[in-house]
Amino acid sequence: MKIGIIGSGNMGRSLGVLWAEQGHQVYFGSRDAEKAKAVAEFALLGTQGGTNDEAAAFADVILWTARGIMPKELLSNVEVLNGKILIDCNNQDIPSEFAYPPIVESLAEKLAKEVPNARVVKAFNTMAQEVFELAPEPLKDYHVSVFVAGDDEQARKIVMQLALEIGFVPVDSGVLRNARLLEGLGDFIRLIMIGQQQGSYATISVNVLPAAQGQRLGGRQNSALK
Ligand SMILES: NC(=O)c1ccc[n+]([C@@H]2O[C@H](COP(=O)([O-])OP(=O)(O)OC[C@H]3O[C@@H](n4cnc5c(N)ncnc54)[C@H](OP(=O)(O)O)[C@@H]3O)[C@@H](O)[C@H]2O)c1
Repeated sequence: MKIGIIGSGNMGRSLGVLWAEQGHQVYFGSRDAEKAKAVAEFALLGTQGGTNDEAAAFADVILWTARGIMPKELLSNVEVLNGKILIDCNNQDIPSEFAYPPIVESLAEKLAKEVPNARVVKAFNTMAQEVFELAPEPLKDYHVSVFVAGDDEQARKIVMQLALEIGFVPVDSGVLRNARLLEGLGDFIRLIMIGQQQGSYATISVNVLPAAQGQRLGGRQNSALK
């Protein structure tokens, strides 16, 4: 696939390198084209670097790492995103004492509202950069979940494949509205990582357990709660 990276910082560089290793064509974009070229040189693997405009124009799939910055602030022509998959990996900034406000509208939904013709997908926000450093090996052994939410099913499937290729276990998380939950999960992970000092390698793996052999606790009954 042709993948464009908007903002060549930690997430952009890490995911860009990993996808290039899998044979994808990656174009790093930045406000500073020289910085993006330097990241492309660091990545090797035939990647390119330039402006965010160039990265967006090049790609079919775009990783948006500029938290809270809307396309019209960053791109000279937002129409370039029409029909393209726009991966939003962003989490809100950590507030003082981890007192997160409730998420009424996710960052991903705000992005989608700005570019309704793009296919926005939430993903890769529940693990730290350090976890990507383990990819794809030995990461595969740890079955780390990547939750993928978006309104376009085909776009979700493509992002799930991109997660699978680099050693994660994709979890179809339904429509983009569910990004509210995923961003809350990202906030919780950072509470565990930083607030509870479990370290940058703390993340989430969903386990689907085999059914119990018997229902010795009586099994699930109809709830009396209204
Ligand atoms: N790092 C992690 O462990 C991690 C994990 C999961 C999710 N996330 C989320 O992913 C997002 C990116 O995190 P990151 O660690 O990659 O941050 P980062 O290293 O600071 O990179 C973000 C990039 O966004 C661009 N940017 C920053 N301010 C901008 C502005 N005012 N206008 C336009 N572009 C701007 C910059 O790219 P250029 O300088 O190249 O233009 C910057 O390098 C955040 O929302 C974060 O919460 C991070």
